[in-house]
Amino acid sequence: MFGSGKVMIGLAGCGYWGRNLARNLYQMGHLAAVVDPSAKALKEVKKSYKGVRTGSDFDSLLEDGKIKAVALAVPAAQHYALAKKALKAGKDVFVEKPLALKVPEAEELVLLARRTKRILMVGHILEYHPAILKLKEFVDQGELGELHYVYSNRVNLGKVRQEENILWSFAPHDISVILLLMGQLPEWASTSGQHYLQHEIADVTMTCLAFPGRPRAHIFVSWLHPFKEQKLVVIGSRKMAVFDDVIKDGKLKIFDKGIEWKDGQPVIRQTAESTLFFPEMEPLREELAHFVDCVRTRKAPRTDGANGLRVLRVLDACQRSIDSGGQPVRI
Ligand SMILES: NC(=O)c1ccc[n+]([C@@H]2O[C@H](COP(=O)([O-])OP(=O)(O)OC[C@H]3O[C@@H](n4cnc5c(N)ncnc54)[C@H](O)[C@@H]3O)[C@@H](O)[C@H]2O)c1
Repeated sequence: MFGSGKVMIGLAGCGYWGRNLARNLYQMGHLAAVVDPSAKALKEVKKSYKGVRTGSDFDSLLEDGKIKAVALAVPAAQHYALAKKALKAGKDVFVEKPLALKVPEAEELVLLARRTKRILMVGHILEYHPAILKLKEFVDQGELGELHYVYSNRVNLGKVRQEENILWSFAPHDISVILLLMGQLPEWASTSGQHYLQHEIADVTMTCLAFPGRPRAHIFVSWLHPFKEQKLVVIGSRKMAVFDDVIKDGKLKIFDKGIEWKDGQPVIRQTAESTLFFPEMEPLREELAHFVDCVRTRKAPRTDGANGLRVLRVLDACQRSIDSGGQPVRI
């Protein structure tokens, strides 16, 4: 079914991140209503977005026949319940990462979306970042050679959360990109985590993901760190790539470097460094445009429920590893 007219979307949750969704959806002409129990959040919406209905009742989005889809930017603990309710009410659903907190809940959402023929998309935003898409193209074309290892650092001072630890707050991004580049699930995960600021809520975690064969990925996330870094480094048998999302220009670089063996000795090979250019696009805008396109054309989103479930399986294994003191957990 190809819908005619504008796809109208109801947004639930207009806090720190939901504000960005509201701005983009409004600018794109798709924002019909915003619900949030916070009067302060709604006041901002009323002031900035004329003609957008506001309220505190989530069900009012589901009862509105003009609203075709809902976007959820509520705390992760509510993703499952609200997504389920929305799918059952016949709405297409965009849900922020992570899809749910428990694997069986995410499995249920994936099945429910399939059964009700609704679109279910997860906000793994980096999969819509033009630099990541370029990097993926490079990897798939074999430009880097065989992937040896990847590491991803996502560290900053703040934003400290009380409802979830750093792993669940930051690492879904790193995991989704790593799964995209590797094209498969890891066999096992081991994560060490420690808390310093709050009881039992890890501020820093270090994860190792082991993929079939030799590829490895390392993820370091922290909200207790003196400066911001969002850096992904990919080491291949032919070349190496660095994606630095904090710098403004030259975010994606390819290094034609490596180690070669000459007369039984390791010798550094170091030639050109090149910066890859990609179209300047706001990843969130790309992500939401993709969602709207999927709602219209009924095609499965690139980051559909199954994709969100894969990321959740890895997160779940990492959390179980933290709980067992860093023991490897099979996925
Ligand atoms: N993609 C990204 O880069 C990114 C970045 C930050 C947060 N997030 C995700 O966005 C979601 C929200 O995070 P945040 O940082 O904005 O949190 P937040 O606490 O700042 O905002 C959450 C908002 O949801 C509202 N809310 C709570 N229950 C609700 C309900 N039942 N119905 C409607 N509104 C409700 C709260 O009042 C609050 O305004 C989380 O899932 C988080 O993982 C994604």
